[in-house]
Amino acid sequence: MSDRLEETRAAWDAEAAAFDEEPDHGLGDAATREAWWDLLLAHLPPAPARIADLGCGTGSLSVLLAEAGYDLTGLDLSPQMLAAARTKADRAGVPLRLVPGDAAEPDLEPGAYDAVLCRHVLWALPAPSAALARWVDLLRRGGRLVLVEGSWHTGAGLSARRTEELVREHRAQVEVLHLTDPVLWGGATGDERYLVVSTR
Ligand SMILES: C[S@@+](CC[C@H](N)C(=O)[O-])C[C@H]1O[C@@H](n2cnc3c(N)ncnc32)[C@H](O)[C@@H]1O
Repeated sequence: MSDRLEETRAAWDAEAAAFDEEPDHGLGDAATREAWWDLLLAHLPPAPARIADLGCGTGSLSVLLAEAGYDLTGLDLSPQMLAAARTKADRAGVPLRLVPGDAAEPDLEPGAYDAVLCRHVLWALPAPSAALARWVDLLRRGGRLVLVEGSWHTGAGLSARRTEELVREHRAQVEVLHLTDPVLWGGATGDERYLVVSTR
């Protein structure tokens, strides 16, 4: 593993224990959980579609979707994040395949997924366009990309316009939905937060 990836891994390992304290991370509030459920199910192919959740973190979205009947594979660089995801899936009593690895070069079967889901990871990758090319390769014919990203007040992130440009380097169709409902985030935010869906 490169020094950069090793640093990223260590940083996220250190975040794992407290990660779910944020409302949109842990989905501990029923209304927030329901809002993510409704949002994702409205934009994913119907269950039991096969989904790769890249940079799955503590597995909140993976487990939510497994509970909705999807066939989930979560990939993450951080063993501590993956351990939290395993605990969460076991508690929920749902199957979840977990794979350690780099989301920029996911070691997953090409052409095998109905959707690639990624929340809050693309922005941090050093070569996002190259990563998107790899993600598109994972999709079956007719498969879709579902990305949740933001451009945050901290200065981190990607604008919706930039993410759309990046996806258009690989795909003909891109739709951007701005996620302004405060219930998704556990309160009002001033940041640009959005969902990008590409079906072809
Ligand atoms: C902001 S968290 C988002 C977690 C999850 N997607 C969610 O929305 O709850 C970022 C996650 O991406 C993972 N990550 C960061 N860089 C990565 C990489 N290059 N490959 C795989 N996972 C990565 C981190 O370990 C962390 O779990």
